[in-house]
Amino acid sequence: MKAPFVTFEGIEGSGKTTQVGLLSEYLAGKAVPHIVTREPGGTPLADEIRGLLLARREERVFPETELLLYEAARAQHVRAVILPSLSSGKAVLADRFSDATSAYQGFSRGIDAARIEGLNAFAAGGLLPDLTLLFDIDPEDGFRRLPGRGRRADRMESETIEFHRKVREGYLRLQAASPDRIVRIDGAPPAGEVFRRVQAVVAARFGW
Ligand SMILES: Nc1ncnc2c1ncn2[C@@H]1O[C@H](COP(=O)(O)OP(=O)(O)O)[C@@H](O)[C@H]1O
Ligand SMILES: [Mg+2]
Repeated sequence: MKAPFVTFEGIEGSGKTTQVGLLSEYLAGKAVPHIVTREPGGTPLADEIRGLLLARREERVFPETELLLYEAARAQHVRAVILPSLSSGKAVLADRFSDATSAYQGFSRGIDAARIEGLNAFAAGGLLPDLTLLFDIDPEDGFRRLPGRGRRADRMESETIEFHRKVREGYLRLQAASPDRIVRIDGAPPAGEVFRRVQAVVAARFGW
């Protein structure tokens, strides 16, 4: 049986990485086989592409270039890591996936949504998450949390608040269009409280 594929989405500072960690610990405690991975990245090549994407640079990065680099990393990640894990019975928890491309490169950068969906499907070989947890938070609140991570803002984090507002709106529209797959979770409460919501959702879906 194919194991579940769960993705974590939301703007910067919404709590994705924190919640992936909490769910992984929880699953380990219940001896549920799983891996944790992230996009862009997840394989040595895809991690190199991540470095290219997130580096702050003088040269302008065009939206089309950015889109294709994300998709290239995804193509590698899906085939080398995600599919083999799922077919060996290990669940996959992914910190971002295709919805991030729709929200950032589509809604926020303005690339046509149908084109992005086509590229997402091509890169992912048609793979869709069984469940997507969308951590929803006001961008100003999300950004206030970021200095706590103790590193300088990357190229995407350095975008304007307006850019991130559009990303948030894009995510909410994706959720409205796929309400069964994408579950919105309020990201504003303390992490433990957010996690209780995550637990309730994965218990109902997968019996975890
Ligand atoms: N619910 C929460 N309330 C307050 N701070 C949080 C919460 N969740 C995460 N944090 C902190 O906010 C920062 C960003 O969280 P993180 O999980 O890295 O978000 P993301 O991966 O979505 O950018 C981290 O320093 C983290 O410890
Ligand atoms: Mg993160």
